[in-house]
Amino acid sequence: MSAKKFTIEVEPIGKRIALDSPVNGLKAIIDSGIGIKSVCGGKGTCGKCRIVILEDGGANAKLTATEEKILSREEIGHGIRLACEQVFDKDMVIYIPASSLTEEQKLQITGEETGMRVDPVFSKHFLKIKPPSLSDMQSDFGRLKDALLEKLAMEKSKNQAAPESLQVSLDYMVLKYMAEVLRNNSWEVTVTLRDGEIILIEGGDRTGQAHGIAIDLGTTKIAILLVDLLSGKTIAKKGIMNPQISYGEDVMSRINFAMQSEQDAKKIQSVTVEQINKTVAELAAENKISTASIIEMTVVANTAMHHIFLGLPVRQLGLSPFVALSDTPHSIKARELGINITAGGYVYMLPVIAGFIGSDHMAMILATGVDEMQGNFLGVDIGTNTEIVLKSSKGIQSVSTASGPAFEGAHIKYGMRAAPGAIERVVIDSKTCVPRIQTINDKRPIGICGSGILDAVAELLKAGIINDRGKFQPDSGCLCMDEKGKLQYMLEPGAFENNNCKKKELIAQAEKNGQDVELLTCIEGSVSINQTDIVEIQLAKSAIRTGINVLLESAGLDFKDIDRIIIAGAFGSYIDPKNVVNIGMFPAVSLKKIVQVGNAASVGAKMVLVSSVLRKKAEDISSRARYLELTIHPTFTDNFVRSTLFPGPDEII
Ligand code: FES
Repeated sequence: MSAKKFTIEVEPIGKRIALDSPVNGLKAIIDSGIGIKSVCGGKGTCGKCRIVILEDGGANAKLTATEEKILSREEIGHGIRLACEQVFDKDMVIYIPASSLTEEQKLQITGEETGMRVDPVFSKHFLKIKPPSLSDMQSDFGRLKDALLEKLAMEKSKNQAAPESLQVSLDYMVLKYMAEVLRNNSWEVTVTLRDGEIILIEGGDRTGQAHGIAIDLGTTKIAILLVDLLSGKTIAKKGIMNPQISYGEDVMSRINFAMQSEQDAKKIQSVTVEQINKTVAELAAENKISTASIIEMTVVANTAMHHIFLGLPVRQLGLSPFVALSDTPHSIKARELGINITAGGYVYMLPVIAGFIGSDHMAMILATGVDEMQGNFLGVDIGTNTEIVLKSSKGIQSVSTASGPAFEGAHIKYGMRAAPGAIERVVIDSKTCVPRIQTINDKRPIGICGSGILDAVAELLKAGIINDRGKFQPDSGCLCMDEKGKLQYMLEPGAFENNNCKKKELIAQAEKNGQDVELLTCIEGSVSINQTDIVEIQLAKSAIRTGINVLLESAGLDFKDIDRIIIAGAFGSYIDPKNVVNIGMFPAVSLKKIVQVGNAASVGAKMVLVSSVLRKKAEDISSRARYLELTIHPTFTDNFVRSTLFPGPDEII
């Protein structure tokens, strides 16, 4: 058996392809089970198999004559190449854009909507304006303002929901196009007013139409919602990968990249803005809406993504004591950020709470209504950094805990993100130790994603294949050895059965000869879980449990006092709560107390988009929420060490 010589990391799927000799790029990707488009079958004519070489030179990566013919100069400069023209012959990191993948990744875009209300942050007014003449030479704006003030005064006297202020200002860009709209529409226009500022003038009566965009800007994924601002309904939504992933998987790599130079900070901000603009334009076009009529955007994000999106300095986020530059809300002209909505429109950013607690956490608190509940409530959003909030009689307190990227599939031998072919469910027969698995889109297993890893560890524990210290039990009879002699549990039922059949034959043979049976060598290339993978999960689950324990301790509570645990976030909606308790990531509460609400951050972003009251409420919560720094808490280390253990056999449910 030849040793593995190099690895190709494939983003955004998070899969690693181990190769022991140079292989054509397209073949290596297809053989690994990743669905990449190849209409011409690798002849170099269709141009569908575009990949981005992220390391090993990027733009300077080898370029063939075919690639030069098919790819634009700009694409070549960005490190784009054709997989079928490349040879993978050394360690590399590549990115496969969504346009080259045959199937999209599984992205959770939204969640349960409760407590939604509609009271817009703007008002729309249809005006019939008297045109100018030689006997009435008032300016366009003076004329429009008079008509608007008259209308506002009338609405106020009728006790309609008219704005308080009668002072009116005009956005500069609106001033520039106003004359044309007025004259092209016989002086009948609809004016959109936001905090006394005219941010949009449209021809005719458009009072029945208003659109906005709500965004949950995650480190890995971005959820984008196109919303009807008058009804509060989501018209359409899309989940996309954050293109910043090409600058590093985690928050710290992004911060480090942005810190390198002003140019790099601009680059990492603009890739996200470009991707958001592209997706917003697609959503608008698909729904026959002009992006020029989208009047507001709200964005929630972790603190690093928030700062990078706003083009703010991030150095202070990357260095101890890791403080945010600003923890107040911001309304910024969309055009200043490069966002393509109506020229006078705004991007509203909810405040972040601390360096590691962003506005996405704030949005989650708002969307789940944790702050208003009577009793003791925990809200948990599991990710590379897991944010946890505890609402108790002592108020709202939050922690951020470094749970690491294991649940994203990183640092796990066969780990990958939730893409087609990833094992997402695992059940192990305790008697026979045979696994049953479910893969995303029922594809051939090519790796295992977070929910699958969590299931696998819980089931290994339940079947006694690992003990409460996470150690493999060789005498369980359920394990084999990899080529380096390390223990593994095979997750693919077919491979497991084959190994077992072989083993039975060997046992019979050995018994006949009066010999001991040694562990079998695992079937190579089949998805399996090893001891290092289990340690990674122990560290991740311990970080989360430590966060919960410290929050409870600081509020003087025991886990029995918890009334409910709300699991929010994309990953959280796919996990099995029973297994979360069984591995000790959560305390042993009744499963009835655990609820999963999906991507609550995007719901929160939508709530502050459609409601000025909820916007104020969120700002109020953020001013009351307190951040607890875990690492300086006196019981942090003890808690962490204790929490690496799994529950004992009698505690498993
Ligand atoms: S598969 Fe058609 S160009 Fe590569």
